[in-house]
Amino acid sequence: EDLDHLQFRPPVITIMGHVDHGKTSLLDSIRKTKVAAGEAGGITQRTGAYHVDVEHEGETRQVVFLDTPGHEAFTSMRARGAKVTDIAVLVVAADDGVQPQTQEAISHAKAAGVPIVVAINKMDKEGAQPDRVKQELTEHELVPEEWGGNTPMVGVSAITGENLDELLEMIILVAELEELSANPDRLAKGTVIEANLDRARGPVATLLVQNGTLHVGDVIVAGPCFGKIRAMIDDRGQKVEAASPSFAVEILGLGEVPRAGDEFAVYADEKQARAIASERTAEMRSSRLQRAAS
Ligand code: GTP
Ligand code: NA
Ligand code: MG
Repeated sequence: EDLDHLQFRPPVITIMGHVDHGKTSLLDSIRKTKVAAGEAGGITQRTGAYHVDVEHEGETRQVVFLDTPGHEAFTSMRARGAKVTDIAVLVVAADDGVQPQTQEAISHAKAAGVPIVVAINKMDKEGAQPDRVKQELTEHELVPEEWGGNTPMVGVSAITGENLDELLEMIILVAELEELSANPDRLAKGTVIEANLDRARGPVATLLVQNGTLHVGDVIVAGPCFGKIRAMIDDRGQKVEAASPSFAVEILGLGEVPRAGDEFAVYADEKQARAIASERTAEMRSSRLQRAAS
């Protein structure tokens, strides 16, 4: 890697927490759009990736958020060795406290070595008991800074918007300690965040670019799938020509549907890329046959 080319990249945040504690609402409130309201029954249908601009000390900083449906995406990605998250925002409802999926999220983040920022949500509710939540979190070795620990915890409300600026500020401060960098001048590589087969558009994949810059026209291998990028769409539904490190885009042009957690890489040589993709496809087939035989 050419060290001269390393540049700061935005932090990638995963929002985690127990069902209905307000992950989607919080993200929605941060974006000040209507993502949650548009979802059937308020349930997250898919992993979304969203880019947010944050004003920090007179500068505009970018933060990328991943909203996971449950922890499946995060767990399966981690199980397959993919590291997509720089910081985990753990959402805990102030009126419900630490629940099974809260505990799961804590162990996932710890196992992945990812710093945690706690958002104690639903502070607007009458039954809100933030001190009780902090006490419960302390039992899981997450001790708030004001109690002498080192886990930032912010009481927020996705409904009133209370303290969301403080939460973002906390994320920026934690990100600064992480010294995140990448080389935007190389061929892109990263991880498939989600993928599906769209009836009209064919295979569609959301890719998180972790190094390099991804361009329309790039020849790509994602897991065992070969493709040539026909179009890229950002989180606002806009067509874009390029995506730099830490940005997520939906791409069209893959021949097949990869899996969440698959790595992708761009190749300068199309023949080489096709060979790598078919080699991986053959490997997958033979290991599937071996499993079926045993
Ligand atoms: P899943 O994706 O299904 O796990 O849920 P989630 O964690 O994304 O929660 P979601 O944002 O769907 O919110 C669940 C419910 O809590 C919805 O009815 C929200 O309106 C409500 N809610 C979320 N945040 C707040 C808040 O700060 N205050 C209050 N009063 N209600 C909230
Ligand atoms: Na929900
Ligand atoms: Mg949700």
